[in-house]
Amino acid sequence: MSTSAASPTPSTGESHHSDAHGASESAVHVQDLHKCYGDLEVLRGIDLDVAPGEVVCLIGPSGSGKSTLLRCLNLLETPQRGTISVGGYTVTDPELDVDAMRRRVGMVFQQFNLFPHLSVLENCTVAQVKVLKRPAAEAKRVALANLERVGLNEKASQRPAQLSGGQQQRVAIARALSMDPELMLFDEPTSALDPETVGDVLAIMRGLAADGMTMLVVTHEMSFARDVADRVVFMDGGVVVEQGPARDVIGAPQHHRTRAFLSRVLDPTAVAAPEQADDADAAPPAGDLTD
Ligand SMILES: Nc1ncnc2c1ncn2[C@@H]1O[C@H](COP(=O)(O)OP(=O)(O)OP(=O)(O)O)[C@@H](O)[C@H]1O
Ligand SMILES: [Mg+2]
Repeated sequence: MSTSAASPTPSTGESHHSDAHGASESAVHVQDLHKCYGDLEVLRGIDLDVAPGEVVCLIGPSGSGKSTLLRCLNLLETPQRGTISVGGYTVTDPELDVDAMRRRVGMVFQQFNLFPHLSVLENCTVAQVKVLKRPAAEAKRVALANLERVGLNEKASQRPAQLSGGQQQRVAIARALSMDPELMLFDEPTSALDPETVGDVLAIMRGLAADGMTMLVVTHEMSFARDVADRVVFMDGGVVVEQGPARDVIGAPQHHRTRAFLSRVLDPTAVAAPEQADDADAAPPAGDLTD
């Protein structure tokens, strides 16, 4: 768990620190966020706060808007309504210095999005040099330290295609860490991996959490969420349905939609029940995650 560490304060000279709503105390502050694609309302009034050093796992069915929410946080998507602040930057401020804000946020995707034509080391140095303007030697030193952290410094000269999926995802994490982010966003980082490599990636993420990194993690790994998250947020249909400590949300969910989702995730062979059959007396999820 990671309750004690504070994230570094944003450097001075970049002036988009938030004032309203106590946002500057949160690593992430989202209020009344709405996002539509045409007629499809994907986010329907999301409120979410992540404290510095907190690990929040975001769970929910396919299509519930989890990726869209993460993508709004660093302006890969523009929301129609609501406010977002990240690391003291008001993301929804039209005057925002987008690049300065994005430098504070590391993002790791399901598909690793490494540059195939660059070596592992170059993947981890290129943005440091181009975006942070670090001298090449310093960028290399930082990259190697982060590759060591994910256990891959001996792969530094290889190309991504020469690595397993799990190794590529560890490189993607090292690349994100090399930018010294205040906040790491993970969007299903293990769901494209072979089962035997999932554990390595989760172990790296556990280590990051233990080191005090602020993390917002979309995941279907319920045991990770239960063990590592300070808080679990369950989304369905573009709203936050339920949130709280993992032992409550996963161990004793209050809402029937949370229960229906968890029973499907914990027993993937179960046939999804029709919506009207989801009554409040539905059985709690299988007991294999209780302590
Ligand atoms: N660029 C887009 N244009 C139109 N519709 C989109 C776009 N991106 C997402 N959507 C729709 O928004 C809804 C939410 O998508 P999103 O990717 O956020 O879901 P998710 O919770 O991440 O699901 P999954 O668990 O499958 O990754 C879906 O219905 C999706 O089809
Ligand atoms: Mg998604």
